Amino acid sequence: HQAGKIIGIMTRLERANNVADLRLMARRRLPRPIFDYIDGGADDEVSLRRNATAFAQYELVPDVLNDVSNIRTETRIFGQSSRWPLMLSPTGLTRMFHDRAELAVAGAAARHGLLYSLSTMGTTRLEDLAQAFAGPKVFQIYIFKDRGLTAEFVARCRDAGFHGLALTVDTPVAGNRERDRVSGLSLPPKLTLRSLLSFALHPSWSLPALTGSKFDLANVSHKIDALASGPMSLFNYVGSQFDPSIGWRDVEWLAREWNGPLAIKGVMTPDDARRSIASGATGVMISNHGGRQLDGAPAPVDQIEAVRNAVGDEPDVICDGGIRRGSDIVKALALGATACSIGRPYLYALAAGGQPGVDHLLTLLREEFVRTMMLAGISDIASVSRRHVRNRARGA
Ligand code: FNR
Repeated sequence: HQAGKIIGIMTRLERANNVADLRLMARRRLPRPIFDYIDGGADDEVSLRRNATAFAQYELVPDVLNDVSNIRTETRIFGQSSRWPLMLSPTGLTRMFHDRAELAVAGAAARHGLLYSLSTMGTTRLEDLAQAFAGPKVFQIYIFKDRGLTAEFVARCRDAGFHGLALTVDTPVAGNRERDRVSGLSLPPKLTLRSLLSFALHPSWSLPALTGSKFDLANVSHKIDALASGPMSLFNYVGSQFDPSIGWRDVEWLAREWNGPLAIKGVMTPDDARRSIASGATGVMISNHGGRQLDGAPAPVDQIEAVRNAVGDEPDVICDGGIRRGSDIVKALALGATACSIGRPYLYALAAGGQPGVDHLLTLLREEFVRTMMLAGISDIASVSRRHVRNRARGA
């Protein structure tokens, strides 16, 4: 039975040629409220759409007759070696999309030699994740009202052998995700006729993952068990514990506590990027949280060049949001990024086919990336330069 299931997954995955195909597979396989939770953004989803479409504004300007028989892709991110310039962004509630949750995603990342980031809102304990995978890993941290909880995370990450921290700063309050309200995945949950029907139509997807004992915000629930009743109110409660009053002194404090690779995730401007580095961070993740927070925020790719100019050559500058093709990554590198990071693409892949699904996605993206490098006549990621990309709107 198990072998038949695996063959079924493999056959299905073979039909997925790109991220868009995996997204459609995820849509078919997940109850609508769960799919919408992954797929949606804030307000009118302007930033969500633009994150991806902004890449199309950039042309790739190729060199020809360079020897491209051997493409060098290896790089370093968060001080760790990465097989090519891509990493996996932190996403919460992963167990809603697949039983094996974060372990499936991290397993595929490790196989591909890529960095994986675990969310504070993840559904696998950071110690369990670290034990399962020796691969390079980052923990995504928040500054809680209770600084002791943040300090405890720092200590746990160090003990468990995490290599870096990403401090998310674009979430002083939850974004307005209207799809979640409409679909019934509101916080607190509202089971509408439509959402009930949607769950009923997907008996193969495991509802217990959402409601049963398996669902757990594994890294924070020990602190707040007594205060919250169900997973959704737990989620809400944790969100309300983020401190909206934090400032640069808190970044300095965290940098001192951790004393290792630290990226500020959610930085959008050159000034804030400079300030991040001055406050002790070793890098920034240019991000609008995948269009899930401030709608109207610029597309990360459009901010890369200014941010890189502001911080100089040394710090990690990671472009996070809207990456759907390997060619997007070449464009980001040409604009000055160290690497790119993805969220939804691996969640679609996870829902479509578990760990083999994520594995398939990473293979596709790498093939696209290497093919684009060859077609652009660039044999080494160190040689990707500004002249390889041109913004059509600006003509430069
Ligand atoms: C996220 N993201 C996110 N970021 C973060 O710092 N902590 C978190 O817990 C989450 N959770 C989360 C859940 C889901 C379902 C999504 C889609 C996203 C944002 C994520 O790290 C990343 O910034 C975006 O996903 C990048 O945009 P793309 O690749 O999805 O376009």
